[in-house]
Amino acid sequence: MSRTPNIEPHTTNNELSLRKFVAPEIVYGAGARTHAGQYAVNLGLQRVLLVSDAGVAECGWVDEVAHALHESGIQCELYLECSENPRDKEVMTGTERYRNASCDGIVVVGGGSPMDCAKGVGVVWSHDRHINEFEGVDRLTESPPPLICIPTTAGSAAEVSQFAIITNTHLGKKIALAAKGLVPDVALIDPETTLTMSHGVTSATGVDVFVHACEAFVSTAHSPMTDIHAIEAATIVYECLPQVLSAPKDLYLRSRMLRASMEAGLAFSNAILGAVHATSHAVGGRYDAVHGACNGILLPAVIRLNWGTAEKRYRILAARLGIELPSSTEAGCDRFVEAVRSFVRLVGNPLSFREIGLPELSTDILADFALADPCMVTNPYKPTKDEVMQLYEVSRG
Ligand SMILES: [Fe+2]
Repeated sequence: MSRTPNIEPHTTNNELSLRKFVAPEIVYGAGARTHAGQYAVNLGLQRVLLVSDAGVAECGWVDEVAHALHESGIQCELYLECSENPRDKEVMTGTERYRNASCDGIVVVGGGSPMDCAKGVGVVWSHDRHINEFEGVDRLTESPPPLICIPTTAGSAAEVSQFAIITNTHLGKKIALAAKGLVPDVALIDPETTLTMSHGVTSATGVDVFVHACEAFVSTAHSPMTDIHAIEAATIVYECLPQVLSAPKDLYLRSRMLRASMEAGLAFSNAILGAVHATSHAVGGRYDAVHGACNGILLPAVIRLNWGTAEKRYRILAARLGIELPSSTEAGCDRFVEAVRSFVRLVGNPLSFREIGLPELSTDILADFALADPCMVTNPYKPTKDEVMQLYEVSRG
């Protein structure tokens, strides 16, 4: 199969459509993390809030980055209080730490949770308002302080995206923030930092990357500029995720997965996502469930939901993944859904909410949250509330 994408543009997203594409300055490759000090100096920083979490600190990455910053004369205030699904309270506490230490920028080393928390700190500090007031698209009126991201997982791609996801603990839901001001200034993307990912984290975050690529590719906001990144990401993950789970210390495979994460991030940051993330955010916020696991559970049902609207796009994606589909609409859908389910199972992810200890779901409340999620706006099919509730039911197992 040719490696050159042969992607027929969507009729409403042709070559002449106006598009914008945002991305940070990216430094990619082994050892990129050691340039944190140099880039902090380039941004004129003197004292940064260094954001991470306890697990990443235990792996030694925080000490390494702090050392690199000190070597360049940058002072650090450490903030490690980020949980797996970062909460509004953690953002507000981090902002107090930033303010009290008179910081002038943020460096974050970690997965999607610390990166989203760090973005939230920048938003709150620059606007002096509560983080929960910023749900939605383009809600920022001020520029957050400079932000340097060093990812340690191949998953969220928050290091290149214009998104942040924070749990509103008052409402028990995740809120999505999307704005150009949330694109980091610099992404130091270093595959060596992903060598410490556990098997479970590698699997769940890898499935998240696959879903980012799938959703960006069928999004109503996709374009030729995002398609090329989405296809590249999907094909790499489909091939490499099973391999890296068998060879977790293989730096080449780790690098392939981290680049796939970055490519998917460039795609979804600009094409946005869809119903998988909208419904997954609702479950994650209410039950504190693992994001990648929820995505893998919901993806098959969402493909079925979207098939009537996005069959042509899914068929292009399937062809690029090497999945042969029968020509009839119904059989084609069945075959693609089965291939996706097999992939999710192959890499050790659950296929039902029952498997992750959620045999009962408040589908009525979840459906309301999912339909209001900004990611639902670009889903190719506009589902009714009943259809979203049904989607949760069939994914319950
Ligand atoms: Fe995601």
